[in-house]
Amino acid sequence: MTAPLSGDLAKPGDPAKHVVAVYPGTFDPITNGHLDILRRALALFDRIVVTIAVNPRKQPLFTVEQRIGFIRDALPEYASQLAFESFGGLLVDFARAQGATVIVRGLRALADFEYEFQFAHMNRRLAPGIDSVFFMTDERNHYVSSSLVKEVASLGGDVTGLVPPAVATALAAIYAKQ
Ligand code: COA
Repeated sequence: MTAPLSGDLAKPGDPAKHVVAVYPGTFDPITNGHLDILRRALALFDRIVVTIAVNPRKQPLFTVEQRIGFIRDALPEYASQLAFESFGGLLVDFARAQGATVIVRGLRALADFEYEFQFAHMNRRLAPGIDSVFFMTDERNHYVSSSLVKEVASLGGDVTGLVPPAVATALAAIYAKQ
């Protein structure tokens, strides 16, 4: 018999399994691309901890509370499956502390692959019992990023359809003042 590749991954078909996943990102702000990934992951995993990462290389426009509020308000139907946390350390340590065995990531274009490949392998080395699961971003959102949305909004462009309506309104209000 071949040895299992992973340590404590949940077994499909096990009625007692309760798979917890983390979905990490800066989410400054959440886009419809992120929401699509999140909805699809919610169909597979019992509980998802949306993890607002403190990335020292980024200067967020929105506070952690605002970022969480946008995501929560965009997905009211999933309230019982979703949790929200922020963290500033190693993702795998956070995932372990949450009892998560899965890291959810989205892949937009080929350019994302190399980074995600390194990220997944490093995380797996650090925590063999936690695996990464990738979702191909919906074709309508494969060019979208939070920075691009902010840039377009800051220059007076229309971001309707790229972000939830509350985010579009908040961006318009911020940039109207500047
Ligand atoms: N739709 C739209 N936009 C998307 C997207 C999607 N499906 N997927 C990603 N993006 C965008 C994001 O909005 C982000 O845009 P921005 O750069 O304009 O802000 C960009 O693509 C990059 O996303 P991502 O790779 O998820 O970066 P991030 O900063 O949001 O998150 C962390 C990266 C925080 C998850 C990662 O650095 C981390 O886990 N750090 C913790 C420290 C750690 O454990 N390090 C060791 C790792 S091996």
